[in-house]
Amino acid sequence: MRALIAGSGGQLGRALQAHVPPGSEAIAPPEADFDIADADAVRRVVADVRPDVVINAAAYTAVDKAEADEAAARRINVDAVAALAGAARVAGAAFAHVSTDFIFDGTAHRPYPPDAAPNPLGAYGRTKLDGEVAAAEFHPAPLIVRTAWVYAAVGNNFVATMLRLMRERSEVRVVADQFGTPTHAATLARTLWTLTGGGHTGTLHATDAGTATWYDFAVAIHAEARDLGLLDRAVTVTPIRTEDYPTPTKRPAFGVLDKTATWAITGVPRHWRDELRVCLGQIKENA
Ligand SMILES: NC(=O)c1ccc[n+]([C@@H]2O[C@H](COP(=O)([O-])OP(=O)(O)OC[C@H]3O[C@@H](n4cnc5c(N)ncnc54)[C@H](OP(=O)(O)O)[C@@H]3O)[C@@H](O)[C@H]2O)c1
Repeated sequence: MRALIAGSGGQLGRALQAHVPPGSEAIAPPEADFDIADADAVRRVVADVRPDVVINAAAYTAVDKAEADEAAARRINVDAVAALAGAARVAGAAFAHVSTDFIFDGTAHRPYPPDAAPNPLGAYGRTKLDGEVAAAEFHPAPLIVRTAWVYAAVGNNFVATMLRLMRERSEVRVVADQFGTPTHAATLARTLWTLTGGGHTGTLHATDAGTATWYDFAVAIHAEARDLGLLDRAVTVTPIRTEDYPTPTKRPAFGVLDKTATWAITGVPRHWRDELRVCLGQIKENA
Protein backbone atom coordinates (compact mmCIF):
# COMPACT_ATOMS: atom_id res chain seq x y z
CA MET A 1 0.00 0.00 0.00
CA ARG A 2 1.34 3.37 -1.04
CA ALA A 3 0.33 6.08 1.45
CA LEU A 4 0.76 9.80 0.89
CA ILE A 5 1.02 11.59 4.24
CA ALA A 6 0.14 15.25 4.75
CA GLY A 7 1.56 16.93 7.86
CA SER A 8 4.76 14.90 7.87
CA GLY A 9 6.45 17.07 10.53
CA GLY A 10 3.75 16.81 13.20
CA GLN A 11 3.47 14.30 16.03
CA LEU A 12 1.23 11.94 14.07
CA GLY A 13 3.05 12.57 10.77
CA ARG A 14 6.35 11.50 12.31
CA ALA A 15 4.79 8.50 14.05
CA LEU A 16 3.21 7.30 10.80
CA GLN A 17 6.67 7.35 9.18
CA ALA A 18 8.20 5.51 12.15
CA HIS A 19 5.61 2.70 12.06
CA VAL A 20 5.18 1.85 8.38
CA PRO A 21 4.04 -1.79 8.31
CA PRO A 22 5.75 -4.35 6.09
CA GLY A 23 4.40 -4.18 2.55
CA SER A 24 3.42 -0.51 2.86
CA GLU A 25 5.24 2.59 1.74
CA ALA A 26 4.97 6.11 3.17
CA ILE A 27 5.53 9.13 0.96
CA ALA A 28 5.71 12.06 3.34
CA PRO A 29 6.79 15.30 1.66
CA PRO A 30 7.85 18.21 3.87
CA GLU A 31 5.24 20.93 4.36
CA ALA A 32 7.16 23.21 1.96
CA ASP A 33 6.39 20.72 -0.85
CA PHE A 34 2.95 19.68 0.35
CA ASP A 35 1.14 22.69 1.82
CA ILE A 36 -2.43 21.46 2.13
CA ALA A 37 -3.73 25.04 2.14
CA ASP A 38 -2.53 25.31 -1.48
CA ALA A 39 -5.22 23.48 -3.48
CA ASP A 40 -3.10 23.44 -6.67
CA ALA A 41 -0.14 21.89 -4.82
CA VAL A 42 -2.48 19.32 -3.27
CA ARG A 43 -3.85 18.28 -6.67
CA ARG A 44 -0.34 18.18 -8.18
CA VAL A 45 1.26 16.13 -5.39
CA VAL A 46 -1.60 13.63 -5.21
CA ALA A 47 -1.59 13.21 -9.00
CA ASP A 48 2.23 12.76 -9.07
CA VAL A 49 2.40 10.27 -6.19
CA ARG A 50 -0.64 8.21 -7.28
CA PRO A 51 -1.19 6.87 -3.74
CA ASP A 52 -3.54 4.09 -2.68
CA VAL A 53 -4.43 6.20 0.33
CA VAL A 54 -4.00 9.82 1.39
CA ILE A 55 -3.58 10.14 5.17
CA ASN A 56 -4.16 13.62 6.56
CA ALA A 57 -2.01 14.13 9.65
CA ALA A 58 -1.90 17.91 9.11
CA ALA A 59 -4.08 20.26 11.09
CA TYR A 60 -4.32 23.64 12.75
CA THR A 61 -3.92 22.38 16.32
CA ALA A 62 -3.42 25.62 18.30
CA VAL A 63 -6.69 25.23 20.21
CA ASP A 64 -6.63 28.55 22.10
CA LYS A 65 -5.25 30.59 19.19
CA ALA A 66 -8.14 29.33 17.05
CA GLU A 67 -10.59 31.37 19.19
CA ALA A 68 -8.90 34.59 18.03
CA ASP A 69 -8.51 33.51 14.38
CA GLU A 70 -11.09 30.90 13.50
CA ALA A 71 -10.68 31.74 9.80
CA ALA A 72 -7.04 30.59 9.88
CA ALA A 73 -8.05 27.33 11.59
CA ARG A 74 -10.86 26.87 9.05
CA ARG A 75 -8.46 27.19 6.08
CA ILE A 76 -6.47 24.16 7.32
CA ASN A 77 -9.10 22.15 9.20
CA VAL A 78 -11.93 22.53 6.67
CA ASP A 79 -10.98 24.03 3.28
CA ALA A 80 -7.72 22.08 2.97
CA VAL A 81 -9.47 18.86 4.04
CA ALA A 82 -11.97 19.39 1.23
CA ALA A 83 -9.10 19.87 -1.24
CA LEU A 84 -7.27 16.75 -0.02
CA ALA A 85 -10.42 14.62 -0.01
CA GLY A 86 -11.33 15.80 -3.52
CA ALA A 87 -7.82 15.15 -4.86
CA ALA A 88 -7.85 11.65 -3.33
CA ARG A 89 -11.22 10.94 -4.95
CA VAL A 90 -10.01 12.11 -8.37
CA ALA A 91 -6.90 9.90 -8.00
CA GLY A 92 -9.05 6.91 -7.01
CA ALA A 93 -7.32 6.81 -3.62
CA ALA A 94 -8.78 6.16 -0.18
CA PHE A 95 -8.80 9.09 2.25
CA ALA A 96 -8.04 8.89 5.96
CA HIS A 97 -8.57 11.94 8.14
CA VAL A 98 -8.04 12.60 11.86
CA SER A 99 -10.45 14.43 14.13
CA THR A 100 -10.87 15.09 17.82
CA ASP A 101 -12.86 14.62 21.03
CA PHE A 102 -13.28 18.43 20.96
CA ILE A 103 -16.24 17.97 18.59
CA PHE A 104 -18.16 16.82 21.71
CA ASP A 105 -19.32 19.09 24.55
CA GLY A 106 -18.09 16.78 27.31
CA THR A 107 -21.40 16.62 29.18
CA ALA A 108 -21.69 12.82 28.79
CA HIS A 109 -21.06 10.45 31.68
CA ARG A 110 -20.02 7.47 29.59
CA PRO A 111 -17.57 7.19 26.66
CA TYR A 112 -18.77 8.83 23.43
CA PRO A 113 -19.52 6.29 20.66
CA PRO A 114 -18.71 7.42 17.10
CA ASP A 115 -22.38 8.21 16.37
CA ALA A 116 -22.91 10.42 19.44
CA ALA A 117 -24.26 13.90 18.69
CA PRO A 118 -21.46 16.45 18.28
CA ASN A 119 -21.64 19.86 19.94
CA PRO A 120 -18.24 21.59 19.92
CA LEU A 121 -17.56 24.15 22.64
CA GLY A 122 -15.05 26.28 20.73
CA ALA A 123 -13.55 27.38 17.42
CA TYR A 124 -11.07 24.51 17.05
CA GLY A 125 -13.78 21.89 17.68
CA ARG A 126 -16.14 23.64 15.25
CA THR A 127 -13.52 23.64 12.49
CA LYS A 128 -12.61 20.00 13.13
CA LEU A 129 -16.29 19.00 13.00
CA ASP A 130 -16.75 20.92 9.75
CA GLY A 131 -13.61 19.16 8.46
CA GLU A 132 -15.30 15.80 9.05
CA VAL A 133 -18.27 17.05 7.04
CA ALA A 134 -15.97 18.30 4.26
CA ALA A 135 -14.18 14.93 4.10
CA ALA A 136 -17.51 13.16 3.59
CA GLU A 137 -18.70 15.74 1.08
CA PHE A 138 -15.62 15.56 -1.15
CA HIS A 139 -14.74 11.85 -0.83
CA PRO A 140 -17.23 9.01 -1.31
CA ALA A 141 -15.92 6.83 1.55
CA PRO A 142 -13.50 8.55 3.93
CA LEU A 143 -12.09 7.02 7.10
CA ILE A 144 -12.39 9.51 9.94
CA VAL A 145 -10.50 8.63 13.12
CA ARG A 146 -11.17 10.76 16.19
CA THR A 147 -8.52 10.81 18.86
CA ALA A 148 -7.59 12.79 21.99
CA TRP A 149 -4.75 14.05 24.19
CA VAL A 150 -1.99 13.15 21.69
CA TYR A 151 1.66 13.33 22.73
CA ALA A 152 5.00 12.08 21.41
CA ALA A 153 8.68 12.29 22.26
CA VAL A 154 9.03 15.19 19.81
CA GLY A 155 6.43 17.95 19.57
CA ASN A 156 4.40 20.44 21.46
CA ASN A 157 2.36 18.49 23.97
CA PHE A 158 1.37 18.04 27.61
CA VAL A 159 4.27 15.69 28.41
CA ALA A 160 6.84 18.18 27.10
CA THR A 161 5.14 21.04 28.97
CA MET A 162 5.00 19.10 32.24
CA LEU A 163 8.65 18.02 32.01
CA ARG A 164 9.66 21.65 31.42
CA LEU A 165 7.52 23.00 34.29
CA MET A 166 8.65 20.24 36.66
CA ARG A 167 12.29 21.14 35.98
CA GLU A 168 11.60 24.86 36.57
CA ARG A 169 9.27 24.76 39.59
CA SER A 170 8.77 23.02 42.93
CA GLU A 171 4.99 22.78 42.39
CA VAL A 172 2.80 22.35 39.33
CA ARG A 173 -0.96 22.86 39.52
CA VAL A 174 -2.96 20.71 37.12
CA VAL A 175 -6.66 20.49 36.24
CA ALA A 176 -8.24 17.47 37.91
CA ASP A 177 -11.85 17.72 36.72
CA GLN A 178 -11.42 17.02 32.98
CA PHE A 179 -11.39 13.37 31.90
CA GLY A 180 -9.92 11.85 28.76
CA THR A 181 -7.28 9.43 27.54
CA PRO A 182 -3.63 10.30 26.97
CA THR A 183 -2.68 8.87 23.57
CA HIS A 184 0.82 8.15 22.34
CA ALA A 185 1.07 9.22 18.68
CA ALA A 186 2.60 5.77 18.02
CA THR A 187 -0.67 4.06 18.97
CA LEU A 188 -2.67 6.35 16.70
CA ALA A 189 -0.22 5.73 13.85
CA ARG A 190 -0.38 1.94 14.24
CA THR A 191 -4.19 2.13 14.34
CA LEU A 192 -4.30 4.23 11.17
CA TRP A 193 -2.01 1.83 9.33
CA THR A 194 -4.19 -1.14 10.39
CA LEU A 195 -7.44 0.57 9.45
CA THR A 196 -6.25 1.92 6.10
CA GLY A 197 -4.51 -1.37 5.28
CA GLY A 198 -7.78 -3.20 5.89
CA GLY A 199 -9.74 -0.77 3.72
CA HIS A 200 -11.91 0.40 6.62
CA THR A 201 -14.07 3.50 6.17
CA GLY A 202 -16.54 5.46 8.28
CA THR A 203 -16.01 7.15 11.63
CA LEU A 204 -14.03 5.40 14.36
CA HIS A 205 -12.39 6.38 17.64
CA ALA A 206 -8.76 5.67 18.59
CA THR A 207 -6.84 6.38 21.79
CA ASP A 208 -4.71 4.38 24.18
CA ALA A 209 -6.60 2.26 26.74
CA GLY A 210 -7.79 3.61 30.08
CA THR A 211 -8.87 7.05 31.28
CA ALA A 212 -7.29 9.85 33.29
CA THR A 213 -7.61 13.44 34.33
CA TRP A 214 -4.86 15.90 33.37
CA TYR A 215 -3.84 15.72 37.03
CA ASP A 216 -3.53 11.89 36.87
CA PHE A 217 -1.50 12.27 33.66
CA ALA A 218 0.83 14.80 35.34
CA VAL A 219 1.28 12.57 38.43
CA ALA A 220 2.19 9.66 36.14
CA ILE A 221 4.63 11.81 34.13
CA HIS A 222 6.28 12.88 37.39
CA ALA A 223 6.58 9.31 38.73
CA GLU A 224 7.84 7.79 35.47
CA ALA A 225 10.25 10.66 34.81
CA ARG A 226 11.67 10.30 38.33
CA ASP A 227 12.09 6.54 37.77
CA LEU A 228 13.91 7.11 34.48
CA GLY A 229 16.15 9.83 35.88
CA LEU A 230 14.60 12.55 33.69
CA LEU A 231 13.82 14.61 36.83
CA ASP A 232 16.45 14.87 39.53
CA ARG A 233 14.13 16.06 42.33
CA ALA A 234 10.55 15.54 43.44
CA VAL A 235 7.93 18.16 42.53
CA THR A 236 4.52 18.63 44.15
CA VAL A 237 1.65 18.05 41.71
CA THR A 238 -1.45 19.82 43.00
CA PRO A 239 -4.96 19.11 41.65
CA ILE A 240 -7.00 22.21 40.73
CA ARG A 241 -10.41 22.90 39.16
CA THR A 242 -10.97 24.04 35.58
CA GLU A 243 -12.14 27.46 36.81
CA ASP A 244 -8.78 27.95 38.54
CA TYR A 245 -6.96 27.62 35.18
CA PRO A 246 -8.89 29.83 32.72
CA THR A 247 -8.15 29.34 29.01
CA PRO A 248 -9.62 31.07 25.92
CA THR A 249 -11.22 27.78 24.80
CA LYS A 250 -13.61 25.86 27.01
CA ARG A 251 -12.47 22.21 27.10
CA PRO A 252 -14.87 19.25 27.28
CA ALA A 253 -15.06 18.08 30.92
CA PHE A 254 -15.45 14.50 29.71
CA GLY A 255 -13.67 13.59 26.47
CA VAL A 256 -13.47 9.82 26.81
CA LEU A 257 -14.14 8.10 23.47
CA ASP A 258 -15.75 4.68 23.04
CA LYS A 259 -13.27 2.57 21.04
CA THR A 260 -15.24 -0.70 20.99
CA ALA A 261 -15.67 -0.74 17.20
CA THR A 262 -12.01 0.11 16.53
CA TRP A 263 -10.65 -2.42 19.00
CA ALA A 264 -12.75 -5.17 17.39
CA ILE A 265 -10.48 -4.59 14.35
CA THR A 266 -7.13 -3.63 15.88
CA GLY A 267 -7.21 -5.32 19.26
CA VAL A 268 -6.90 -3.31 22.47
CA PRO A 269 -3.79 -1.10 22.56
CA ARG A 270 -1.64 -0.72 25.65
CA HIS A 271 -2.85 1.23 28.68
CA TRP A 272 -1.91 4.92 28.42
CA ARG A 273 0.50 4.64 31.34
CA ASP A 274 2.50 1.89 29.62
CA GLU A 275 2.72 3.99 26.44
CA LEU A 276 3.78 7.00 28.55
CA ARG A 277 6.71 4.94 29.85
CA VAL A 278 7.69 4.04 26.26
CA CYS A 279 7.57 7.70 25.21
CA LEU A 280 9.58 8.93 28.21
CA GLY A 281 12.15 6.25 27.42
CA GLN A 282 12.46 7.73 23.92
CA ILE A 283 12.80 11.24 25.39
CA LYS A 284 15.62 9.94 27.58
CA GLU A 285 17.35 8.34 24.58
CA ASN A 286 17.03 11.59 22.58
CA ALA A 287 18.45 13.72 25.43
N1 LIG B 1 -2.51 16.89 19.64
C1 LIG B 1 -3.65 16.49 20.22
O1 LIG B 1 -3.76 16.46 21.44
C2 LIG B 1 -4.82 16.07 19.38
C3 LIG B 1 -6.01 15.70 20.02
C4 LIG B 1 -7.09 15.29 19.24
C5 LIG B 1 -6.98 15.26 17.87
N2 LIG B 1 -5.83 15.65 17.27
C6 LIG B 1 -5.75 15.61 15.82
O2 LIG B 1 -4.75 14.68 15.47
C7 LIG B 1 -4.15 15.07 14.23
C8 LIG B 1 -2.64 15.09 14.38
O3 LIG B 1 -2.31 16.05 15.36
P1 LIG B 1 -0.83 16.20 15.93
O4 LIG B 1 -0.94 16.05 17.41
O5 LIG B 1 0.11 15.36 15.15
O6 LIG B 1 -0.63 17.75 15.61
P2 LIG B 1 0.72 18.57 15.31
O7 LIG B 1 1.87 17.93 15.99
O8 LIG B 1 0.37 20.00 15.59
O9 LIG B 1 0.92 18.33 13.75
C9 LIG B 1 0.14 18.98 12.79
C10 LIG B 1 1.07 19.23 11.64
O10 LIG B 1 0.32 19.81 10.57
C11 LIG B 1 1.17 20.76 9.98
N3 LIG B 1 0.45 21.71 9.16
C12 LIG B 1 -0.25 22.81 9.55
N4 LIG B 1 -0.69 23.47 8.46
C13 LIG B 1 -0.27 22.77 7.37
C14 LIG B 1 -0.38 22.96 5.98
N5 LIG B 1 -1.03 24.00 5.47
N6 LIG B 1 0.18 22.05 5.15
C15 LIG B 1 0.86 20.99 5.65
N7 LIG B 1 1.02 20.77 6.96
C16 LIG B 1 0.47 21.66 7.81
C17 LIG B 1 1.82 21.43 11.15
O11 LIG B 1 2.96 22.15 10.74
P3 LIG B 1 3.42 23.46 11.59
O12 LIG B 1 3.88 22.94 12.90
O13 LIG B 1 4.49 24.01 10.72
O14 LIG B 1 2.20 24.32 11.72
C18 LIG B 1 2.20 20.21 11.98
O15 LIG B 1 3.45 19.68 11.58
C19 LIG B 1 -4.79 16.41 13.88
O16 LIG B 1 -5.86 16.19 12.98
C20 LIG B 1 -5.33 16.91 15.18
O17 LIG B 1 -6.44 17.79 15.00
C21 LIG B 1 -4.73 16.03 17.99
